Amino acid sequence: MKLRNILALSALFTFQAFAGNEATVTLLPSEESPIIQKEIYGQFAEHLGTCIYGGLWVGPDSDIPNTDGYRTDVLNALKELHIPVLRWPGGCFADEYHWMDGIGPKENRPRMVNTNWGGTVEDNSFGTHDFFNLCEMLGCEPYLSGNVGSGTVEELAKWVEYITAEDGPMAKLRKENGREKPWHLKYLGVGNESWGCGGNFTPEYYADVYRRYQTYCRNFNGNHLYKIASGASDYDYNWTEVMMKNAGRYMDGISLHYYTVLGWSGSKGSAINFNEEDYYWTLGKCLEVGDVVKRHCDIMNKYDPKKRVGLLVDEWGTWFDEEPGTVRGHLFQQNSLRDAMVAALSLNTFHTFTDRVKMANIAQIANVLQSMVLTKDSQMVLTPTYYVFKMYVPHQDAKLIPLNVATPMITARDGRKVPVVSATASVKNGKTTVSLVNTDLANTSDVTINLAGIKAGKISGEIITADSMDAYNDFGQPEKVTLKSFTKGWRVNGDKLTVTLPAKSIVTLTLSN
Ligand code: AHR
Repeated sequence: MKLRNILALSALFTFQAFAGNEATVTLLPSEESPIIQKEIYGQFAEHLGTCIYGGLWVGPDSDIPNTDGYRTDVLNALKELHIPVLRWPGGCFADEYHWMDGIGPKENRPRMVNTNWGGTVEDNSFGTHDFFNLCEMLGCEPYLSGNVGSGTVEELAKWVEYITAEDGPMAKLRKENGREKPWHLKYLGVGNESWGCGGNFTPEYYADVYRRYQTYCRNFNGNHLYKIASGASDYDYNWTEVMMKNAGRYMDGISLHYYTVLGWSGSKGSAINFNEEDYYWTLGKCLEVGDVVKRHCDIMNKYDPKKRVGLLVDEWGTWFDEEPGTVRGHLFQQNSLRDAMVAALSLNTFHTFTDRVKMANIAQIANVLQSMVLTKDSQMVLTPTYYVFKMYVPHQDAKLIPLNVATPMITARDGRKVPVVSATASVKNGKTTVSLVNTDLANTSDVTINLAGIKAGKISGEIITADSMDAYNDFGQPEKVTLKSFTKGWRVNGDKLTVTLPAKSIVTLTLSN
């Protein structure tokens, strides 16, 4: 059983069991606050399961309605999220991907076995042109993950040239393949998980390899690459230490992967069949990303006190067992209200590190792990996580409003601590956006927000909640978890705004004059 205790409001403990929790959020607006980089709302698309084929791409000859081969329903849904950046083609797949196999006439493209992900045969029909066109349609920055594990320096150098050069042999080839103008490419990952599926390197060895590969990734015709070193997983602080020490000055960013997962061996638990203990444990595990990011930041601060190098959490999210009846290795999992909570709590956490965390990419955009959309043939569902990303759009590129939260705490299995109330706030174009999460499954939370002079003449609200913690959206069924307007439950009294959050809910309030 979970244990309850109170951190800042001990007098409320007995009260809350009967009448709901109480918490206080104090806004601390400051001109000096950093901007919440919109890239924190980045996405990741890997050649894995049905993420690309079936999820994003069906080809122009498909019976499924499509726009030049891209699923129209998925495209339209994704446009609502204002995706800032999309990482591709992996993941582990990236270190076995040879980009030249994915250009030119589709019928001539070689096939390959996707050894990482179920041994599925990949026909390379979705390649560089298809990815860059998708980014243009979504209006997002492309983020390429280059092959270091099984590729060559020359291969990676030529990929950059193919994409960004105006003239020369690679530009000629690109033009022959139908694209006259170079594309813009900012984000370039030099390998992925180089400590594991990307080559099983030691950090010392990879630091040297990184230095070599990045040397030949040139800036053509005014294109300026932001070079990203493959970073640590979770608690591997030594990786960050060695990389920053040996290669820090050759990189613009270094990645970090953090999954909300029970463990790497054995069952990871079901995405939709879980109990209350599992729910609170999952939230506690997801919140641990705050400690992990802080420790990596502390190391980076030693070598880069001016914070020139960004920490990019370019894979994060929940990882559960695959749904029964789906292909092993395709990582297709459902997505419940619990995932929505993980998304909101993680984004709230990333906001607090926005001076160093310059990007985050949830894994993955479609049909894999904690997806935005799930597809089955011509059907599509929008997941609870999708609705959190939609709700949080106003935070993109907004000025962070630092805040303090005094909240009761829940102690979950393994001693993991979960705040009953989590909050984040930002301001943009004269509108203040406050997002609040009530993690408590059973009780409402009355939250008093000290506005610190911020005007709340007009308030509008949105909410994500459901009847049960394991509610999810399924094919052919009415949506159980969606974004609704939240029109009551708040009161302004002078410089205080009090709002009652329903149990297990995520609420965003927009305040203006
Ligand atoms: O997102 C699934 C996989 O998780 C990625 O391919 C890999 O980088 C990570 O281990």
